[in-house]
Amino acid sequence: MAYPYVSDREARVISRGFGDPMQRRVDTYVQRGGYGALKKAFGMSPDQVIDVVKASGLRGRGGAGFPTGVKWSFMPKQPTKPHYLLCNADESEPGTFKDRELIRWDPHQLIEGCLIGAYAIRAKHVYIYCRGEFFEANQVLARAVEDAYAKGYVGKNIQGSGNDIDVTVHQGAGAYICGEETGLMSSLEGRRGLPRVKPPFPAAYGAFGMPTTINNVETLCAIPHIVANGGDWYRQWGTEKSAGTKLFCVSGHVRKPGNYELPLGFPLIELIEDVCGGMRDGNALKAVIPGGSSVPILDAAEARSCKLDYEGCVSAGSMLGCASVIVMDDKTDIVKQVRRMVDFYAHESCGQCTPCREGTSWAAQIMRRIEDGDGTEKDLDTLMEITQQMVGTTICVLSDSVAPPVQSSIKKFRGDYLARMRSLEPAGVA
Ligand SMILES: Cc1cc2nc3c(=O)[nH]c(=O)nc-3n(C[C@H](O)[C@H](O)[C@H](O)COP(=O)(O)O)c2cc1C
Ligand code: SF4
Repeated sequence: MAYPYVSDREARVISRGFGDPMQRRVDTYVQRGGYGALKKAFGMSPDQVIDVVKASGLRGRGGAGFPTGVKWSFMPKQPTKPHYLLCNADESEPGTFKDRELIRWDPHQLIEGCLIGAYAIRAKHVYIYCRGEFFEANQVLARAVEDAYAKGYVGKNIQGSGNDIDVTVHQGAGAYICGEETGLMSSLEGRRGLPRVKPPFPAAYGAFGMPTTINNVETLCAIPHIVANGGDWYRQWGTEKSAGTKLFCVSGHVRKPGNYELPLGFPLIELIEDVCGGMRDGNALKAVIPGGSSVPILDAAEARSCKLDYEGCVSAGSMLGCASVIVMDDKTDIVKQVRRMVDFYAHESCGQCTPCREGTSWAAQIMRRIEDGDGTEKDLDTLMEITQQMVGTTICVLSDSVAPPVQSSIKKFRGDYLARMRSLEPAGVA
């Protein structure tokens, strides 16, 4: 496989097909070496494939960063029931726009990753759960799966290997909670997308009650490259604990927002200033959310020292999450931004758990009151308390996701909250 765009800044491995409409065609993909890794994987035992993925240090790109090879090794080794691989293409974390691009530009890369994953976990059926709003991505993917069937890369006796693996694309209806793995399985089964308590974990009791592995699109797209080139090759990028490359979805007040594939550990400030062309309109940096709306906000000083890997983001005071970097300049209304995030969680809460159902809606009401100028300092204490009570008390971590943006913004940008209260005081009041 050729990697024509690898430079000292960007490392385009999974994004090498971005911008090239030929890449989505099965013939072009094969001409460029595609489906070669699948053939190589079929020549290995499933456990050998898992060992290569373990050696690469690849961690799940869906947000939690769990080691992929280790997750695969949890699946039973001697199947007594059907196994399933589910590809999570629901991509709904605010600020995230990488998975839909991977599908649009390079659908066969994902299909090949899914097939190798299925082989490794001894599954004969892959479901790709793709958000319904991604109209073009769904069309491109459906066409690619059809082409892969026609060319014998999917289905019965793939390329004469004796391996049978089917791939089904399932369109979700656009609920954030269906990106959570147990909600996704429930939705796939035709029920409401309600998360359920774990354990049992999906490797023991997953989709349709069968052993199941769920992986993010970006995770699976890295697999063909790792199998083709080896674990050490992948480790040429990144750090010891955060190996490889990662797509960073940069949005907000930079001159060149977009998707950038970089080695993990890349300095956040260099991403903003060099790769993204600096701050828009020459404004000063105020804050950055490095990993989507569910992680703490960094102030400018923290952002300047932040390395973009799992450990580096934690040291700086936040989390890498799914690497959705939201950059905010000094004109940004932090209170409004956080209010919008809380509104999002209130809207997307499935309502099963009282702390989440009630907490998100109370937090949203208080945030709205503060934004409208009717808040008091007591409201900030109440917000801290409510969001704290929402951590670790519910079925899934949607509820926990409210605390990081709310609490970090109150701690780091308290002045913005107070200014909003004072600016609306009647004239003459001290
Ligand atoms: C509320 C919520 C929404 C989520 N949405 C997504 C999503 O859109 N895409 C995704 O890959 N993972 C999402 N996740 C994480 C998945 O539950 C799961 O951990 C992930 O798909 C595993 O893949 P990985 O190991 O390759 O990262 C979400 C989790 C939560 C709690
Ligand atoms: S935490 Fe919220 S979204 Fe998750 S299951 Fe409970 S109510 Fe639903």
